[in-house]
Amino acid sequence: MALDDVAVKIARSENLSILPEVGRQVIRLIDDPDASVAKLESLIERDPAMSAKIVRVANSAYYGHSNIGSIGRAVTVLGMNIVRSLVTTIVYQQVVKNYDGLSKGFAYGLWRHSLATGIVARILAKIKMPLKAENLYAASLIHNVGLLSMGRFCSDQLVTVIAEARKGERSILEVEREQLGFDHTEVGELIGQKWGLPEFMITALRYHHSPLEAPANQETATIVAVSQLAAQRAGYTFEFVATPEPIPTEWLEAIELSEDQIPAVESVLHSEMEKVQQLFNVPAAA
Ligand SMILES: [Fe+2]
Repeated sequence: MALDDVAVKIARSENLSILPEVGRQVIRLIDDPDASVAKLESLIERDPAMSAKIVRVANSAYYGHSNIGSIGRAVTVLGMNIVRSLVTTIVYQQVVKNYDGLSKGFAYGLWRHSLATGIVARILAKIKMPLKAENLYAASLIHNVGLLSMGRFCSDQLVTVIAEARKGERSILEVEREQLGFDHTEVGELIGQKWGLPEFMITALRYHHSPLEAPANQETATIVAVSQLAAQRAGYTFEFVATPEPIPTEWLEAIELSEDQIPAVESVLHSEMEKVQQLFNVPAAA
């Protein structure tokens, strides 16, 4: 199967999209200068199950509130950016729960890794570009959506790729290119375009393994790239990663981060993961 065939399958999947429409629209509001509280509220309220879950999570100890009774109140108390992140998280969690592609173990391992990557990106962004912290979280959460899609649209090929990567202790990306002629970052880019995601997110989907090659939005792509490796290094890896790759020094330099800062980031990550584990059904181990 070539990338064009995957593109056709993705294009035809309108009614079987891996991301529900409400989720897509909410993610699209990220970076939208015209996004308003009312718009966000009315979008979320179209999905009663999601609204209920947001209210429940917003009232959890993690967010530190107990008097949030509506989406409007959640937006007032937590702020629009946090509510958007929450929606993105809940929607993506739903995607994993209803996943009908490759095994559930694959989807849950990826979920755990994605959440950890989002959390690391938020920590790094709070240091480097605080106003973008929630945007970076959302981009990092979905960084491997291409892989998730491949598990749905070309699962047989992905099974072969995974087996080969495991056997030879090679990177999945390298084996994808060799055996399929394309990789999950290209599929991610196609999905990002189809969903109409903001440019910086599409760049992160496409360049999270090669951020310094990104023609634009290089800094945000690098934060996502560093975050996904830092999450793996901290043990939030998924089934076919034999040995986590070291974080390239050039990537760290590009965002002015030193190797010595990583252990502190990891320790915040562990404590955050412990807190969100229950909230977002994170499996204990990959
Ligand atoms: Fe990836």
